[in-house]
Amino acid sequence: MSQTWSPESWRSKPIQQQPQYPDSAKLAQVEQTLAGYPPLVFAGEARELRRQFAEVTQGRAFLLQGGDCAESFAEFSAAKIRDTFKVLLQMAIVMTFAAGCPVVKVGRMAGQFAKPRSANDETVDGVTLPAYRGDIVNGIGFDAASRVPDPERLLQAYHQSTASLNLLRAFAQGGFADLHQVHQWNLDFIGNSALGEKYSQLANRIDETLAFMRACGMDAQPQVRETSFFTAHEALLLNYEQAFVRRDSLTGRWYDCSAHMLWIGDRTRQLDGAHIEFMRGIENPIGVKVGPSMDPDELIRLIDCLNPDNDPGRLNLIVRMGADKVEQHFPRLLRKVRDEGRQVLWSSDPMHGNTIKASSGYKTRDFAQILSEVKQFFQVHRAEGTVAGGIHIEMTGQNVTECIGGARPITEDGLSDRYHTHCDPRMNADQSLELAFLIAETLKQARA
Ligand code: PEP
Ligand code: CO
Repeated sequence: MSQTWSPESWRSKPIQQQPQYPDSAKLAQVEQTLAGYPPLVFAGEARELRRQFAEVTQGRAFLLQGGDCAESFAEFSAAKIRDTFKVLLQMAIVMTFAAGCPVVKVGRMAGQFAKPRSANDETVDGVTLPAYRGDIVNGIGFDAASRVPDPERLLQAYHQSTASLNLLRAFAQGGFADLHQVHQWNLDFIGNSALGEKYSQLANRIDETLAFMRACGMDAQPQVRETSFFTAHEALLLNYEQAFVRRDSLTGRWYDCSAHMLWIGDRTRQLDGAHIEFMRGIENPIGVKVGPSMDPDELIRLIDCLNPDNDPGRLNLIVRMGADKVEQHFPRLLRKVRDEGRQVLWSSDPMHGNTIKASSGYKTRDFAQILSEVKQFFQVHRAEGTVAGGIHIEMTGQNVTECIGGARPITEDGLSDRYHTHCDPRMNADQSLELAFLIAETLKQARA
C-alpha cells in the first residue's frame, strides 16, 4: 500500500461496484460543482461522534444505527423523515430507560442512496438491463432510459440530503426530542397494540421521573430538552465522497463531510481496493461490514490499515453473518481481534445475512431470524467477555409490510399490502420497537 494518501489516491486502485457513466465530461463537471458546495457536516461533529464511539467501545454506551436500506427521491417528505426519527427516538429511550445505558443515535439518513448490487444486470421476461444502483445513480423503472447512470442525480441527492439533515437537526434540537414529548413519539398505528401499551407504561414512568426532577429543580439540563443525532451512509460512490473531503480548519486533517460517519460495504472491502484506500485517509469514525467470508488474519490487516493508532472511537465492525452462520464465523473473528488487542466497536447488522425470497417472489426477512442473530451476537460477546456495542438495522417509521413475523405478525401473503422499499426489506415501527425492548432486556442483564 502506498504511504501517501490524498483525496484522489483511491483513483489508482482497483474499484468495485461503480456505475459506468456514458458522459464522463458531465460527470467531471458535477464533481467540480459538488466540491464547491458547502459540506453537510462539520468536522468537529465527526470528532464528537468519534468520542462517543470510544464510549461505546469501552462499554459505557450503546450504538443504535438505523434507517432506510436506500433513500429515494420519490419518498422524500417531512412526514417520512419525522416518523423514522420518532421510531429511532423511541428505540433509544427504551434502551436508555430500561437498561440505564446512554444510546448514541446514528441515522442511515440524509445521504444513504447508493447501492452495491449482487449482479450488474437485471433480467425480466427475457429483457436484460443494467441493475438499479440507487436513485443517486439511475432510475428504478425497468426501461433502458431509466437505467442509464446520470451525474445530475448526484446533485439531486446532495440537495435532498441537505434538506433532510436540516430537518433532523431541527427535530433534534428544536423541542421535538424533548423528553417531555415522550408520549407523542408513539405512532398512531402502534398506539393501541400490546407493544404500544408497553411503551406507554414506560413513557408514564419517564413522566414521573421528570416530575420528580422538576420538583428538585433538576430538569433544566439541555440533555432533557434536546438530543444529538448523527448521520451515516455507505461510502460507495467515491467520486461523490471525494467531493466532500475537506481539510478541517481547526486541526488541518482531512474529513469526509458528506456525513458524520461512513462505512464500507461487505462487497467493497478488498484490502488493496479503492474503498479501503479512500477511507484510511479520512478522520471520521468509520464502519466496515463484516460478512461470513471474512478471514481472521485479513480482518487484522484491515483493522491495522484503517485504525493504525488503535483508537477506540475510530472503527465500527458491523457484523452481518445471518442467524444460521453467527456461531460458525463470528467467535473466531472476535477472539482474534480481542487476543491481538485491537480496540473496535462491535455492532450487529441482523438484516443483511437474513434476506430470503418469499414464495410470492418478494425479498423479505423473517423477524424471528433477525432477533435470533441479535441474541446470538450478545451471547457470543458474553461468553468471550467482550462488549456488544450496538445494532445496525434497516427500518422505517412507515407502517410497511416488508419483513415477515413480529408481535402483530406479517405473513407472506400480507407482504404485498404495503411493500414500498427501493431495495432491501425494512422493519416497520412495531418490529423495531419490539427489537428495542428485547435489546433493553439483554443490555440490562449484560450490564448487571
Ligand atoms: C446495506 O447496508 O444496505 C448493504 C448493502 O450491506 P452489506 O454491505 O452488508 O451487504
Ligand atoms: Co440493505
